[in-house]
Amino acid sequence: MRARYRELHAACLSNILVSTVTVILLSLTAATPRTASATGYESAEGINGGMLFDTFYATSAKKKATLPKFSNTFRVDLSKIGAGGDFYRCKQCHGWDRLGSKGAYIGRAAKAGKRPNVSGANLALTAKTYSPKKLFARIAAPEKARPADFDPKMYDPSSTNPVGDRMPAYSKIFSEAEIWDVVKFLKENAYDTTALYELKTEGTYPSGSVSYADIGRDGNAKAGRTVFEKQCGHCHGDNGLDIDLGGKSVGQFLRTKAYEVHHKVGFGQLGSTMKPTKLSPGQMRDLYKALADTAAFPSKPAK
Ligand code: HEC
Ligand code: HEC
Repeated sequence: MRARYRELHAACLSNILVSTVTVILLSLTAATPRTASATGYESAEGINGGMLFDTFYATSAKKKATLPKFSNTFRVDLSKIGAGGDFYRCKQCHGWDRLGSKGAYIGRAAKAGKRPNVSGANLALTAKTYSPKKLFARIAAPEKARPADFDPKMYDPSSTNPVGDRMPAYSKIFSEAEIWDVVKFLKENAYDTTALYELKTEGTYPSGSVSYADIGRDGNAKAGRTVFEKQCGHCHGDNGLDIDLGGKSVGQFLRTKAYEVHHKVGFGQLGSTMKPTKLSPGQMRDLYKALADTAAFPSKPAK
């Protein structure tokens, strides 16, 4: 009788112990702030990272309202950055396709005081081969970081090795959590464009040109049409003609700028009502396949 009581008592105690430990652990994880490096990669938000890849500053109030989470931990002067914004946007130096000067931006030359040269790095590849930690380190502190006091207005692309082409040290711009967001985006959320279309390039940077073939690859146009009806049609219209995209319909925009649409769909068109749409790589490919069809998604009539 006594032994049985002792057994029960012990079981009960260990139960209490286990649940106490669980409660402590749970409250520890819940209380960890987003900025703590201990949370790192696992708790990072890749969608926010994709938006940061696009931009983190705004010159208009309308755009400000749609920006990603950016704490400005280091109190950088955003009006100064806004004036030379292309020197800070990942997408300017690496491209929406992350292929830099070997991708869609093969013809995007630098402009004095305005925008830097496109980088020769292949981020689509490094995102695959580098560990999250290594990616973090490269973004936080590039091998040849641009001095923090760099003035975009003084940028002269004709000088040998212009300093403005160098990557800024984001450890002085983004919080650790924000850098992890970008790392997560690169590794998990960015779309592999080779699965969406065939990129054809001619010539070399900065005077090359691109065209796109096999848009949507072996995707399913019917499934892509369903994605469009569910996620896009109520704004862009059944056949993608309702919103004027710089003189283009949605289908037309995709057929001429295939390298950009996956990012705008996945991470939103900042400054507009178009929010990020969560699509799997397969759904994105299907959507591309559907929009490649000029009968279903016609171009705007030429003016
Ligand atoms: C002003 C242009 C510029 C901007 C803006 C820029 N980069 Fe870079 N980046 C470069 C250049 C040039 C290199 C290659 C030299 C080097 O590694 O420093 C590079 C290299 C890298 C590498 C290492 C690639 C490799 O193969 O080792 C990563 C990762 C990277 N950039 C990510 C980013 C991310 C993410 C952002 C935005 C948060 C960004 N870059 C913004 C110019 C830029
Ligand atoms: C809530 C309304 C809304 C939804 C939903 C929406 N869009 Fe948009 N879309 C817009 C607006 C507004 C713009 C911006 C027009 C501008 O910048 O002047 C835009 C811009 C675009 C652009 C041009 C981007 C650029 O770089 O200029 C493309 C391409 C596009 N949308 C495709 C899509 C696709 C594909 C979907 C569905 C996955 C979608 N949109 C869902 C409202 C929407």
